[in-house]
Amino acid sequence: MISATTPFSFILFGASGHLAQLKIYPALYVLALKKRLPAHYAVIGFARTQMPEEEFRSLVEKSIRTQMGEVNEKVLAGFLEHVYYHGGQYDAKKDFDALAKKIGSMEDKGKQWTRVAYLSVPPAVFTPIFKNLSASGIHADHGGPFRCIIEKPVGHDLTSFEALRKELLAAFKEEEIYLLDHYLGKEAVRNTYYLRFANPVLERLLKNTLIHHVEIAALELGGIEGRAGYFEHTGTLRDMVQSHLLLMCTLLTMRIHEEAGAFPTHRKTALEQFYLPPAKDVNDLILQGQYAVGMIGKEKIDAYRSEPDIAKDSRTNTFIAMKLRTRISRWDGVPFYIRTGKRLTKKETRISIQFQEPHPVGKESGPNRLDIILQGEAGMRLHLQTKLGGNELMFRPLVMEDPLVCFGDCLPEHALLLPEAIHGDHQWFLTFDEVRLAWQLMDPLQSHLDRPETPLHLYPAGSNGPAEADGWIKRDGVEWF
Ligand SMILES: NC(=O)c1ccc[n+]([C@@H]2O[C@H](COP(=O)([O-])OP(=O)(O)OC[C@H]3O[C@@H](n4cnc5c(N)ncnc54)[C@H](OP(=O)(O)O)[C@@H]3O)[C@@H](O)[C@H]2O)c1
Repeated sequence: MISATTPFSFILFGASGHLAQLKIYPALYVLALKKRLPAHYAVIGFARTQMPEEEFRSLVEKSIRTQMGEVNEKVLAGFLEHVYYHGGQYDAKKDFDALAKKIGSMEDKGKQWTRVAYLSVPPAVFTPIFKNLSASGIHADHGGPFRCIIEKPVGHDLTSFEALRKELLAAFKEEEIYLLDHYLGKEAVRNTYYLRFANPVLERLLKNTLIHHVEIAALELGGIEGRAGYFEHTGTLRDMVQSHLLLMCTLLTMRIHEEAGAFPTHRKTALEQFYLPPAKDVNDLILQGQYAVGMIGKEKIDAYRSEPDIAKDSRTNTFIAMKLRTRISRWDGVPFYIRTGKRLTKKETRISIQFQEPHPVGKESGPNRLDIILQGEAGMRLHLQTKLGGNELMFRPLVMEDPLVCFGDCLPEHALLLPEAIHGDHQWFLTFDEVRLAWQLMDPLQSHLDRPETPLHLYPAGSNGPAEADGWIKRDGVEWF
């Protein structure tokens, strides 16, 4: 059972921010609700905004009520008693000294407390926080375990990643650093791996002799959700493909193993094998788009360039289609098509595997296919073509399906990952090697997309993406699922 059993101080930098309110406070509340928190713990928010502790508790309470819908009043009130606030500047040592005093006064001297510093701030403020955590003694002086958690994206490209890695390693030991990609906290994403583990029959189907191609898609209805400052300088390739979608490729293809602790190494080994197929033109490997004005249902959606704080001539991509291959022998030659975008027709995250053309006898049938749908109408669906009764050679797909809904101990991503970090379990956190490999793969593509002559295809919000993306994949004799 996932729970935090040792006393801990959870120090949240950027406590007034978007991620804190959207994910972190609700996750901590869920842990309280499910009785997964120890008797002794403290959640200490830190940010520049000056506010009395009561006002901060109201902010935390409001975010929990908004995200959860229904709450257990007694649990919520009990949880809020553990919540504190300290206003200060990220680069002011004296503010960290005062924070250190406050944390120390809360930690019961008779027990060993784990300290977790969660950096829910823009990367521009990471460096002073690292320095002040050390200088104030918050990092090392309490004698107990320490964790530093930062969210993806880790860096903006390979160069900034290497600089951040150096800074992190100068401030903390590697085992104290937790690189969080919330996809690794999604039950359904973890299931991609366990489905293979638990199903030798399925696992044997996943071979290049049987597979025609794979599509990995993360389709979003939403836009930039008020995060213009972040997204305008990031784009979909960096925001989605570099992290989440490459992870899905990895979990699908990595070696099944049983050795404890080897999981990140096998993920890394699988990621290392992905490469860009040879092509005459980089545009054959990647295509970018950006949403224009359109309709989603009855709602008129403004163009990306009309969003507040977005440049009127912005060339930031909100849609990416690209292809990859892997050198892993059992997947050798299988194209992996990746498709992701904002403001599309639906929200869905899926892995679809199309098997090879049927035997000539069944050539009138459609392809056999395995869908693993992680978000949206979640489920695993295996489509097997079967002949209809009668003299005509007509086929229909027999669909074997499991809804893949979470049964039993179901926790939202951060509620699953936080206790793992508190207990020092790195399995579902990224390693520096994985992040480096991902940037190595992405950087040349990003440079290509940044060139003014590289096409940026506009698509109406509420569509399936640019029409050019359909033509792009059709040249390989393939269609999007
Ligand atoms: N939001 C998401 O959905 C999401 C998803 C994945 C990863 N992340 C990552 O999580 C981290 C936090 O994201 P977020 O969306 O919560 O960020 P945010 O809302 O823009 O910023 C969080 C807090 O940091 C402080 N801050 C913002 N800009 C600052 C600046 N220029 N200098 C100093 N302080 C500043 C603000 O607090 P004060 O002014 O009160 O100090 C703000 O409330 C980022 O590293 C982001 O890349 C976010």
